[in-house]
Amino acid sequence: TLLASYDFVIVGGGTSGLVVANRLTEKDFTVAVIEAGESVLNNFNVSTPYGYGRAFDTAIDWAYQTEDQEYAGGKKQTMRAGKALGGTSTINGMSYTRAQNAQIDAWESVGNKGWNWKSLLPYYKKSEGFQVPTPDQVANGADYYLTYHGQNGPVKTGWPYGMANSSVLPVLDETLSQIRVSYNRDVNGGNMVGLTVHPDTVDREANVRQDAARAYYWPYQQRPNLKIITNTYANKIIWSNDSHEAVATGVEVTGPDGVLTVHASKEVILSAGSLKSPVILELSGIGNPDILKKYDIPVKVNISTVGENLQDQTNNGLTYGSRERWSGLPAFSALPSAEQIYGDKVESIANTVNASLADYAKAVANFSNGAVQEANVLAAFQLQHDLIFQKQVPYTEIVWLPLGSVFATEYWSLLPFSRGNIHITSSDPSKPASINPNYFMFDKDMLAQAEIAWYIRNAFNTAPLSDLVTEEYEPGMDLLPNNASENDWSDWIKGTYRSNFHPVGTASMLPRAKGGVVDPQLKVYGTKNVRVVDASVLPFQLCGHLTSTLYAVAEKASDLIKNKYTDY
Ligand code: FDA
Repeated sequence: TLLASYDFVIVGGGTSGLVVANRLTEKDFTVAVIEAGESVLNNFNVSTPYGYGRAFDTAIDWAYQTEDQEYAGGKKQTMRAGKALGGTSTINGMSYTRAQNAQIDAWESVGNKGWNWKSLLPYYKKSEGFQVPTPDQVANGADYYLTYHGQNGPVKTGWPYGMANSSVLPVLDETLSQIRVSYNRDVNGGNMVGLTVHPDTVDREANVRQDAARAYYWPYQQRPNLKIITNTYANKIIWSNDSHEAVATGVEVTGPDGVLTVHASKEVILSAGSLKSPVILELSGIGNPDILKKYDIPVKVNISTVGENLQDQTNNGLTYGSRERWSGLPAFSALPSAEQIYGDKVESIANTVNASLADYAKAVANFSNGAVQEANVLAAFQLQHDLIFQKQVPYTEIVWLPLGSVFATEYWSLLPFSRGNIHITSSDPSKPASINPNYFMFDKDMLAQAEIAWYIRNAFNTAPLSDLVTEEYEPGMDLLPNNASENDWSDWIKGTYRSNFHPVGTASMLPRAKGGVVDPQLKVYGTKNVRVVDASVLPFQLCGHLTSTLYAVAEKASDLIKNKYTDY
């Protein structure tokens, strides 16, 4: 029953939460998972591997709305996230790409001891059940180094049946290699730069999406020590009366039977996603006192950076008419570095960006009303600048989509500098939070988004890709001729962009003095027994899609927790 007590209460049965629930119940701990959504095992919008977008704006999409985007044309954006057992992994694009090794190493270099590429790689592998491609799939471009992959983990990865026409890859390869980008057989070994046909999270034989519930819950549903409580909304953490330390004793929830408390004898673990976990912290009294006082929430722990450091990416697309009709699922991605996008201009661009970082760090600190420190923001920006321009991590992902009678693309700049935040607007947990990613607040983020568009147009004008297409439909040469100004491009970008749905950083793993919310054990500073395990803790945006890394982080978190309570 709901009022029962468990060793661990996990808030959010999503991508990360179900990993922790699974691994802890391998031992004889009792675990309850509170999930606002319900099972989607029989929901075709989820299970079909060919249905990206079908679940959008249905009951299983939170479809969070942002504030008006002041620097991006004024409109609100929809930030999608899954409301279902399996979380956002049930509605996402299924792309399985990890991160550039230097980005994970950066976590350690800023003070998170034990978090680096080398130590995370075994956890990427532990979570993965790589399906070696069939000869047909190999002929269509599926390529890999088996040593990079795990074959025994719960998350099946690989290529779905019905891949796109094999003739496209050599054309893209020959075209892009003339404009500096070469082929990368397998981007999952720490070096992501290049053109690739990456795997997806898919169960090839069953021909279904491999979401977190299919991977980590359904095969284990009979475990008596694992209790999944769906259709139930977590409101806030309940604390003991201890006045010296913040000790969580459970979670207040609203479910079909009204408002109840689920007790936790060991820990409360927040895995509600980067647009909800920081909100639950604030509702529970952990956050910026200025904000909490506004809503009469007693301050349990003063951490002014809860909800700050919100980072997302922006997605635009160019579309061309095609001379051929295409069928099958295309999965061609190019991940060029800054040098490859900019060519000779790269140094001058690097200098221009660098020269603006101090002013922009000040603007971010001001936007947060001093909740984040200018010096911390600047240090993070310099590290990011170093990753982009010295370490040459991927700068953008360009997805090439030959579909029917068009050859479309989608792209996003991978590491924008713009920073926003998310905060409560009420002490009532049912009220939506204020979400402001501040898209394009840093003007050089707009320049990057435009420069990548020019690179893509250039690719479509380079043979042999140019032979496959007719005219440019989007944005179109009438709207934006080759001599169009940066301002004209900026208007088009603002008019057509969307969120890339990769929000991170709102409860960052960083030293407290650097603005961190959780420590390297993922424990919330100032609490005895509250952790956050989800995309909120990633301190910096990544170049890979997020689930692979979140599975790895949650696997590692599970070991950290087990180590604390057992000597296994
Ligand atoms: P996640 O959202 O998975 O889990 C949070 C859970 O908490 C949800 O189940 C939610 O219902 C629940 N919850 C929230 N508030 C609650 C409350 N108060 N009470 C109870 N439960 C609550 N990644 C990738 O690797 N490849 C891709 O192709 C894509 N593509 C993509 C497309 C789209 C449209 C989106 C929206 C996202 C992607 N991503 C992606 C990103 C990736 O899917 C995403 O970052 C992770 O799934 C997030 O995992 P988390 O564990 O952080 O939260």
